[in-house]
Amino acid sequence: MKLNIALLAGDGIGPEIIAQAVRVCDAIATKYNHEINYTEALTGAAAIDAVGEPYPDSTHEVCMAADAVLFGAIGLPKYDNDPSAKVRPEQGLLKMRQKLGLFANVRPTFTFPSLIDKSPLKRERIEGTDLVFLRELTGGAYFGERGRKDNGNTAYDTMIYTRMEVTRIAKVAFETAMQRRKRLCLVDKANVLESSRLWRETVQAMEKDYPEVEVAYELVDAVAMRLVQWPNQYDVLVTENLFGDILTDEASVIAGSMGLMPSASKGEHTDLYEPIHGSYPQAAGKDIANPLATILSAAMMLEDTFKLKDEAKDIRDVVNKSLEEGIVTEDLAVKGSKAYKMSEVGDWLVANI
Ligand code: IPM
Ligand code: MN
Repeated sequence: MKLNIALLAGDGIGPEIIAQAVRVCDAIATKYNHEINYTEALTGAAAIDAVGEPYPDSTHEVCMAADAVLFGAIGLPKYDNDPSAKVRPEQGLLKMRQKLGLFANVRPTFTFPSLIDKSPLKRERIEGTDLVFLRELTGGAYFGERGRKDNGNTAYDTMIYTRMEVTRIAKVAFETAMQRRKRLCLVDKANVLESSRLWRETVQAMEKDYPEVEVAYELVDAVAMRLVQWPNQYDVLVTENLFGDILTDEASVIAGSMGLMPSASKGEHTDLYEPIHGSYPQAAGKDIANPLATILSAAMMLEDTFKLKDEAKDIRDVVNKSLEEGIVTEDLAVKGSKAYKMSEVGDWLVANI
């Protein structure tokens, strides 16, 4: 099979983690006789430095022409500490989500048996956790009207949703639940927010189309608590953009390291795959960061976009084996044992594929 993949490495550790994911994909391609064409394009601070904006049209064209996008991370501290910066790397991410129509952000959280004691949560609470968030990604307060009034002394952001926007993400959530344990939880704040009441009403009306799916309606504050108390009670959770942003960071600690969880964003045009962690600029160029979240994102890409199930499983299996054998970067190394470099983890994975 021929695979056309756009590579958007971005900032910080982005180029290094993408390089390791490419090595792993190439090893898989050799083993299964696939041909992968990669096209690199600029994004984030790297694109601001080169052409003055974080998601240039040329990058959008590369993404539109590809079968899938593999994305690293964006963001640099020089922008975080400058609230007056006119262009910011993160604007590139939002523009990319909007222009590619990536309304469904899929963020799984699962545990690795060999790492369960790495989690800050007790083993008995997290064992068996296997949940997935469907975060709406192109609406809500991220894209609603915002501004200042009263000479800058009042600021507002609008959490706004249409029934169409809720319906299309809810559909993905119901379908995901059908493929899994058939349990869906809508996370909202319907006791206070009108937009949440639209979400609830819309999802309630869709229940009859998926009679096998058991639907629960839970308030976001309660879910924030239950996620760390009983994460293994959840299967599929669907929620609006900002709630999903916050809860998926919370959920990511369950696995034991930010460096482990993959994600996918899907919608109207090309699907995009990326690790859930950020650009970790302190580690850039040091060959120490954990490449597994990006490598597992590549596995999701092979499975979801290209339907290459065996290939994806091979990657997951070899990743599990590396964890069991302690071939891990410093974030996961146990005290007194060796922390491998990122590229050494990559070498080991490639050799074992
Ligand atoms: C994420 C990030 C982004 C978001 C930022 C960088 C704009 O936190 O992908 O979760 O808030 O969506
Ligand atoms: Mn976030």
